[in-house]
Amino acid sequence: MNKDLKSFLEGLDSLAHDCESRKGQACSLEELDELRIEFLGRKGKLAQSMGQLGRLDNTDKPAAGKKANEVKQLITELLDSWQVEINAAKTDMALSTFDPSMPGRKPWVGTLHPVTLVMDEICDVLTGLGFEYASGPEVENDWHNFEALNMPPEHPARDMQDTLYVSDKIVLRTHTSGMQIRSMLKQEPPVAVICPGKVYRRDSDLTHTPMFHQIEGLLVDRNVSMADLRGTLTAFVRQIFGAKTEVRFRPSFFPFTEPSAEVDISCVLCGGKGEVAGSTCRVCKGTGWVEILGCGMVDPNVFTAVGYDPEVYSGFAFGLGVERVAMLKYGIGDLRMFFENDVRFLEQFS
Ligand code: DAH
Repeated sequence: MNKDLKSFLEGLDSLAHDCESRKGQACSLEELDELRIEFLGRKGKLAQSMGQLGRLDNTDKPAAGKKANEVKQLITELLDSWQVEINAAKTDMALSTFDPSMPGRKPWVGTLHPVTLVMDEICDVLTGLGFEYASGPEVENDWHNFEALNMPPEHPARDMQDTLYVSDKIVLRTHTSGMQIRSMLKQEPPVAVICPGKVYRRDSDLTHTPMFHQIEGLLVDRNVSMADLRGTLTAFVRQIFGAKTEVRFRPSFFPFTEPSAEVDISCVLCGGKGEVAGSTCRVCKGTGWVEILGCGMVDPNVFTAVGYDPEVYSGFAFGLGVERVAMLKYGIGDLRMFFENDVRFLEQFS
């Protein structure tokens, strides 16, 4: 064989070996691409060898060309097979780090705020008894908040509530009782409404916050009596605190009701005994009773203010603090916990 042809063919063989020996070098598709360029690229090793083809005798060229094609195919197949291996390894790795039998990570789910929970519960019971929802403004005028509720200017009862004034005649509502007035102005009797919402007072300690929630109730019709008030509130309280709860009505004073009463229930902690494990009950302070709401028969002056005839209609009203009910229900000692939004506290109500 001609010497030039021999060295040309040997050169191609060593190129093939060179490529085979580089197997471990290409661990990634990027590295494999580099090898492909090195051997098969336009200025790569194979192209360089082919550059020598012109120097051969014309009679040797077909054999040389054939060999060059074989080597090109060999190298292409080698590189392709490595590509398959690299891809397979990638999938293996993904599978080995992904364990489909592992339990999933639980998403963190928020809960309703305890005040919302209790508010919803109270409203459910009251709507179940036939009351309808009403809502109104938290920024209220003096007339709805005080005057129409039988508290004219300078009335001493205004001092019972530490009012936050927006201006001379505009206040942040100190109670939801103003909604009695708005509800009655909107319709003729019979009226049976509950008004849940935020109220505001200049007050802050263990049992008072500047904002808290109340639910107002009002029922007006012909022949509504104190017995209806008693029956309704007893049924309500027993649905919230349990059927065995004792209820007592204690005479009290509110300007917008006459007569007025405060409702006490047997203590939620000691059950009315006044002591727990031999020591004085911390919730009722040993009395066996806890106060739960204020109520009374609507004062005739309130009816007059809204244009109802007090000779024809009578009614009862009541108001309760939602946080107070929540504290009693869940045994919470500090009202401020409701507003600190410590997740460890809130989580307990899920
Ligand atoms: N508005 C009173 C308060 O904020 C609660 C109240 C007492 C509402 C007696 C009433 C009622 O409707 O009849 O303390």
